[in-house]
Amino acid sequence: MSDTSKSNDAVWRDAEKVAAWAARSGERERARVLARQMMADLLPFEPQAEFSFVDLGAGTGAASRVILDRFPAASAVLADYSSEMMSEGARQLEGYEGRYRYVAIDLEAGRWPAELSGGLDAVVSSLCVHHLSDGRKQGLFSEVIERLRPGAWYLNYDPVKAEDPSVEEAWQAAHDRRDPAAAEKRADRSPEEQAHYENHIRHIIPLAPQLAFLRSAGFEAVDVYWKELDHVIMGGRRPFSGQ
Ligand SMILES: C[S@@+](CC[C@H](N)C(=O)[O-])C[C@H]1O[C@@H](n2cnc3c(N)ncnc32)[C@H](O)[C@@H]1O
Repeated sequence: MSDTSKSNDAVWRDAEKVAAWAARSGERERARVLARQMMADLLPFEPQAEFSFVDLGAGTGAASRVILDRFPAASAVLADYSSEMMSEGARQLEGYEGRYRYVAIDLEAGRWPAELSGGLDAVVSSLCVHHLSDGRKQGLFSEVIERLRPGAWYLNYDPVKAEDPSVEEAWQAAHDRRDPAAAEKRADRSPEEQAHYENHIRHIIPLAPQLAFLRSAGFEAVDVYWKELDHVIMGGRRPFSGQ
């Protein structure tokens, strides 16, 4: 097992940690409303369209729920590798029975379930790809485009790292102004909190190489469609022909 897998497992496949993470989700999601809505805004479907989308690293379904609310005839495949997150998700998705299902996938391994072998209408991911090594980010983008139907979109909401330390500082300062207790919390992390933080940031990389990964996987219309400080929605479309 790689170091990445071990440190990810310690966070996402631990029932107690998942319960603590889920208990704080309301507070976190309040700050993410605009990004979640933007992801739904970017999906090029009519409001009543019947389509299915895949949410990679879906966790408890925070991104999926917003898309399902926006498109009442849509259905979701929530792909994740943590049964603990899926159990918590089943509770949070109570009002969506019949419109979603979970499938198990380890994105670090690159083996997809047969039911997701192709023809997908859309793929989204949020706050998950930064847990993967750079090689796997690249591999994942290729695996996604191979499985999308021509003309279908992939959107990824994720944190990025600044290439310039002054930019990083400016982002941090703005975060701290919004949440003045954050700087204090940062200085006073327990060893466990520090380990969690280090796991969180270890594979976060700048935006430019990730846009390059998307382009070299074959996506067109690649862009940063939304950005707030260190969080972005990036994505692109599988070309209609020639792929
Ligand atoms: C921060 S949570 C984000 C969950 C959800 N997408 C959201 O936006 O709230 C990260 C998710 O990625 C999943 N994850 C991490 N590594 C993974 C892997 N190798 N394969 C599949 N899922 C993974 C975790 O289980 C967890 O559900």
